[in-house]
Amino acid sequence: MRFSLFAFATTVLLLAAPASMKPTAANTCAERVSTDPSVKLIRTEDAAIPGSPISQAAVSGDHIYVSGFLPLAPHTGDIVGTDIDSQTRAVLESCKTVIEAAGSHLGKVVKVNLKNITDYGRVNEIYADFFGTHRPARSAVAVADIPLGGGVLIELDMTARV
Ligand SMILES: *[C@@H]1O[C@H](CO)[C@@H](O)[C@H](O)[C@H]1NC(C)=O
Repeated sequence: MRFSLFAFATTVLLLAAPASMKPTAANTCAERVSTDPSVKLIRTEDAAIPGSPISQAAVSGDHIYVSGFLPLAPHTGDIVGTDIDSQTRAVLESCKTVIEAAGSHLGKVVKVNLKNITDYGRVNEIYADFFGTHRPARSAVAVADIPLGGGVLIELDMTARV
């Protein structure tokens, strides 16, 4: 009985391993440790993990500085959708997830930076739904290019209070 339980557990582990260890650009970056205790680097598997040498967010004093998020799915790193609607929702959700992983929430967002204003009206509708009555400061700029190139339509970052 003990042996078969062990065999079962091993089988489950083996079946689970390939998916979770899938080597994608999004999840191969190592855990980052700040060189100074006054800066805390945030990492959560529930938002896309950048392949580049950056953290999802850094906390300094009372503020959480979230990196510019591209519309990439957590775990797989795949580009989310092909339209501005789904990609806008994806970047907003990623920033929210990271802010919550840092122990805060959307009501404490103070500033948002939005890159790509081609579909400004549509992005604003989704954005307004997302924040509800909370209206953080924001800047929005037109951009010539966004990392990862074709298929990625938006980058967005936030700063929030802890
Ligand atoms: C900006 O978004 C529009 C769709 O809203 C897209 O057609 C365009 O390619 C995007 N620009 C960049 C630089 O990705």
